[in-house]
Amino acid sequence: MSLFRTKSVDALLDASRAPGGLRKVLGPVDLVLMGIGAIIGTGIFVLTGTGALTAGPALTVSFLIAALACGLAALCYAEFASAIPVSGSIYTYSYATLGELVAWIIGWDLLLEYGLATSAVSVGWSGYFQSLMQGFGLTLPTALTAAPGSVPGVQTWINLPALLIMLILTSMLSLGVRESARANNLMVAVKIAVVLLFILVGARHVEPANWQPFMPFGSQGVFSAAALVFFAFIGFDAVTSAAEEVRRPERDLPIGIVGSLAVCALLYVLVSAIMTGIVPFQKFAGVDHPVSLALQYAGESWVAGFVDLGAILGMTTVILVMAYGQTRVLFAMSRDGLLPTRLSRISPRTGTPVFATWSVGLVFALIAAFVPLNVLAELINIGTLAAFSLISVAVLVLRRTRPDLPRAFRCPGVPVVPVLAVAFCVFLMAHLKASTWIAFGAWLVLGLAVYFGYARRRSLLHPR
Ligand code: ALA
Repeated sequence: MSLFRTKSVDALLDASRAPGGLRKVLGPVDLVLMGIGAIIGTGIFVLTGTGALTAGPALTVSFLIAALACGLAALCYAEFASAIPVSGSIYTYSYATLGELVAWIIGWDLLLEYGLATSAVSVGWSGYFQSLMQGFGLTLPTALTAAPGSVPGVQTWINLPALLIMLILTSMLSLGVRESARANNLMVAVKIAVVLLFILVGARHVEPANWQPFMPFGSQGVFSAAALVFFAFIGFDAVTSAAEEVRRPERDLPIGIVGSLAVCALLYVLVSAIMTGIVPFQKFAGVDHPVSLALQYAGESWVAGFVDLGAILGMTTVILVMAYGQTRVLFAMSRDGLLPTRLSRISPRTGTPVFATWSVGLVFALIAAFVPLNVLAELINIGTLAAFSLISVAVLVLRRTRPDLPRAFRCPGVPVVPVLAVAFCVFLMAHLKASTWIAFGAWLVLGLAVYFGYARRRSLLHPR
């Protein structure tokens, strides 16, 4: 039964209030911006091209389906976040509800999701950065532009810009959350401005004829694209990992989660409608900057340049928030004894977990430097969808086991909403490739080996 031992919810809340913990410095605006910072990135700037090729102009519908799956899961997230506002996001929530083994699996899964997302978005960042530099006549030696095997027939060794941006952002995070949140807020503002600029300028160039046929690949195309562009919504959950650093978590976390998701869903639908309205979707084949391509196609080269710049800033914030979320999950798992205690040590100087921040920063910087984007992107969606399904189950469990627990935010329509959330997530998972399922399974098996070989006996809940 020890596999299902749970942490006490009250002890969790007490621990998060104990002196010497993380600083409480974040407010609701910080959180919505942090959510948008994590959400808008490679998904809209890079993957929309592949999405349009898969679904045609009906990509807008794919975005709506993905948004619906996320929105349902977000309502479940928000209830947990408001009831158990402690560091570690759904890892911690599941520890208090579904037991240690499930919590371990979720934590292990989140390490993969956040970690690979930082690497994958760094690789996307690197591509846009190099393209902007080329505009100024600056090019890197080919060997330093990409991971080995990224470009068929071209000898590349290392993705140097991806490595460097990961190292720079890791330094920022280790210096303290307030500084990072401030820098993040500024970059998010620029990113939103650029997306709005695209919508305002692009809308004037839409040719409704390009929206016909609307669904050239039928509903299968729409669903496959939804499973892909789901990536564009990943990140709102990173808001919950900041719970212990929020001033009024009961009120602010639900605002942060639902608010950031709603803003992004609206922007994505508008951007994809306008993109496919300007350019016949077939022209996105092989294009890694589809949003700015649409503007170039419309003859708005200047605006396209600004969009390139905004995409770079946009992806910077995504890396920042994902890396932040990951160190906080590590922090929580280590504090529970499941991972080495060094990972939850807080530097008295910066008030941040410096060792944890640098450990994962270095590992995923190296992955960004040496692993091609397509290999990375495959795994991220499946890990996230699995975590979302589990959190939706957990909301039902907690309603039964702790009906008395104060919840500043209650998920509406229980049990229908959590059940629908699971159904949507599993449906999208079913549209991912077999190779993705195999790799995900291998990661889980490795996680179970670590749990039974190390974590289970080290757990603070283990009888001593
Ligand atoms: N949603 C994030 C992005 O699109 C991961 O880059």
